[in-house]
Amino acid sequence: MQKLESKPVVEKIREQVLQKSDAFQKKYHRKPHLAVILVGDDPASHVYVRNKHVACEKVGFQSTNHQMPAITQEQELISHIQKLNQDSAVDAILIQLPLPSHINKERVLAHLDPHKDPDCLTEANLGKFFSGNSVVKPCTPWGVMRILEHYNISVTGKDVVVIGRSLIVGKPMACLLSDANATVTLCHSKTKNLAEKTNQADLVVVAAGKPRFFGKEYFNAKSVVIDVGIHGSGSGQGLCGDVKYDEVYPQVLAITPVPGGVGPMTISTLLENTMALAEARAQKLENKK
Ligand code: GUN
Repeated sequence: MQKLESKPVVEKIREQVLQKSDAFQKKYHRKPHLAVILVGDDPASHVYVRNKHVACEKVGFQSTNHQMPAITQEQELISHIQKLNQDSAVDAILIQLPLPSHINKERVLAHLDPHKDPDCLTEANLGKFFSGNSVVKPCTPWGVMRILEHYNISVTGKDVVVIGRSLIVGKPMACLLSDANATVTLCHSKTKNLAEKTNQADLVVVAAGKPRFFGKEYFNAKSVVIDVGIHGSGSGQGLCGDVKYDEVYPQVLAITPVPGGVGPMTISTLLENTMALAEARAQKLENKK
């Protein structure tokens, strides 16, 4: 029963990004710059955004806050994104999700320049990612791969079950694991005999979006469990994952905790993506000279 904490991985990535960011600043005489757009006053989103600004500062990035009121119209948001797309001092634009319900996320994301998309949310970047040649990778699944790598958990030849088929977690997670030579079963809410499948797997990645749903009946003493769920933030109560951590922890080989597991990794991989976008754009401008 190993606890797969992300803290040492976060620190390692911070150190790596800081080195790249220093080298970037020496070469281009400016800092990599992440612009964060937050529409409305969802308390959890405010906490996430604050954490992102703090993380940027620690690796020597410039980060700017673009707070827009909850009543912002879709077109106003799109105009703001277009302005940042054109701004040569901005390397990456993060549009904090969820957006207020009157704004269509897909229409908004269609206006984000893929060269400035640090979340890998645009169709262009997802297409490149699934084709195997993207500058950025979806933050959460890439964060899971970084945890596995840090703890020397090889997935080659392993049977892996991924629960959840979303475009930003489940599907890219299955793709990354398959590229790393795992045999992947992608499960979802209509999957039959789920507990049977998870019990047969060597590794289970749970991204179902169901608070404390998965108990010990889903796992065994050889299971490695990665809990991508994160629930309860902003409510004043503690965070929990999709897995009943206290019940499952003593019964399995290894498990990521919540908090302190996959969650913090998404900021680390966001920093990596922002760094990669800044380098790619600066290189392109250099080549044009
Ligand atoms: N909302 C919660 N997490 C995230 C994230 O990683 N990126 C964006 N854009 N929105 C979020």
